[in-house]
Amino acid sequence: MSDTEPFAAVDLIRVKRDGGTLSPAQIDWLIDAYTRGHVQEEQMSAMAMAIYFQGLSDPELVRWTQAMIRSGERMDFASLSRPTVDKHSTGGVGDKITLPLVPIVAACGAAVPQLSGRGLGHTGGTLDKLESIPGWRAHLSNAEMLAVLDDVGGVICAAGSGLAPADRKLYALRDVTSTVDIIPLIASSIMSKKIAEGTSALVLDVKTGSGAFMSDTARAVELARTMVALGRDEGVRTRALVTAMDVPLGVAAGNALEVAESVDVLAGGGPADVVELTLLLARHMLELVGINADPAEAIASGRAMDHWRRMIRAQGGDPDAPLPQAPIVETLTADRDGIITRCDALAIGRAAWRLGAGRATKDDPVSASAGIEVLAKPGDEVRAGDPLLRLHAEDAARLEAALPLLAGPESAVVVSPPGTAYSRLPLVVDIID
Ligand code: URA
Repeated sequence: MSDTEPFAAVDLIRVKRDGGTLSPAQIDWLIDAYTRGHVQEEQMSAMAMAIYFQGLSDPELVRWTQAMIRSGERMDFASLSRPTVDKHSTGGVGDKITLPLVPIVAACGAAVPQLSGRGLGHTGGTLDKLESIPGWRAHLSNAEMLAVLDDVGGVICAAGSGLAPADRKLYALRDVTSTVDIIPLIASSIMSKKIAEGTSALVLDVKTGSGAFMSDTARAVELARTMVALGRDEGVRTRALVTAMDVPLGVAAGNALEVAESVDVLAGGGPADVVELTLLLARHMLELVGINADPAEAIASGRAMDHWRRMIRAQGGDPDAPLPQAPIVETLTADRDGIITRCDALAIGRAAWRLGAGRATKDDPVSASAGIEVLAKPGDEVRAGDPLLRLHAEDAARLEAALPLLAGPESAVVVSPPGTAYSRLPLVVDIID
C-alpha cells in the first residue's frame, strides 16, 4: 500500500482467494486503480482467477458493475425526443439480427443506439458485417452518433474507447488467462457497456446451443437472469430472451452474405427463423418503451428499408453498391436420400472462420465475401445430389482448410435414413424479466 492508495491489491486478492467478500470501497478502488494502471495485469489476472473459483456475491457484483460503468463516460440521450432502447446478443453463427432489427425499431418510433464490436473466433461481429458495404465506416464521434440517432432513429457504430475502459482492459486480460467463462464477470462486462451506452431499455438475446458462447442452457438462463437483475438495479428496463444457437440462424454465415440476407428481410423476404426472431425482439423492445407499433407493418410499408438506407448513407455507405463476392464458390451436396439430423452451428461457424469470415486475434483482417450458405436444416428431407452447403472463399487454400469440418464422420451436416429422429432447440427457449 502506498501513502496515497487506500488498499493494496495483494490484500484484496487474498480476501477473494480465501472466499471472503470485498467491500464496496475495495471494489471501487480495485477497478479504478486497475484502469489507471496502478493495479498490475498480473494482480488483476490473479483476482479474476480468484473470482473464477469463489464467485462474487450479488452485492459485490452490483458494485463491480457500477465501478466498471464509472471507469468511463456514460452517454446521455436525454435530448432525444424518442425513447431509447437497445438489443444485445451474446452472439452466434449467422446472427445478423441487429442489421434488420435496428432500422425496423427505428421505423416504429424508438431510438436505437447500438454500439457494437467486432467478431472474434467463430462468431461474427456486427461491425465486420457492415464494413462489407462499400464506403461504410464504423467509427463516429459522439456528436456524429447523436446526430444520426436524432435524424434516422437508429445508429450502429463502434463503441468508443471512453465507454467502460475498465472492461476493455479486463476483457482482454480474461481472454488470455482463461477467465472469460465466469457468469458474474461476463454479466458485468456486457451490462457495464450497455448501461454506459445510455439506453433506457434493453432486450438481451442470450444464445444457447453448440454455436453459442454459453452452450449449456441452464448456464445461459443463469447468465440471462444475472444480466436482467443488473439492468434493473441500474434503472434500465431489461428483458432477456434465451434463444437457440444449436443450428446456424438463417441461411448466411459470413459478412457480406449476412448483409444481403438482412436486406432480404427488410424487403419482406428472408429465412423464416431470421424474420421470426427479428420481429419478436422488435416487439419486446417496443413494448419495453411503451410504443404500440407493428414491426411487420414497418417492413411491409417499406419504412424499415428506408431507415436502413438512410442509416447506411449517414455513415458513408452506399446501400445500392454491389456487395463483394468471393471468386471461389463450391456447393456440397447430399450423398444419399434422407433426412437432415444434424446441422451443427459450432462446426459451421468454425468452417466459415477458416474460409476467412472471422478472425483469430483481434487485429486480424476479415474477408468480406467469405462464408457459408446453409441450405438444409434438421428435419429437412433431401435427395442425393441436393445442395446442403455453399462455401464462399477468396482462395483455394481457405477452401481446403474448411472442408474437413464439413465432411466425414464428424461432419457439420448429417443426412440420416428417412424417418430418423432428430432434435433441435425451439427458437425461444426462455424469456426472463
Ligand atoms: N462479451 C462481453 O462483452 N464480455 C464478456 O465477458 C463476454 C462476452
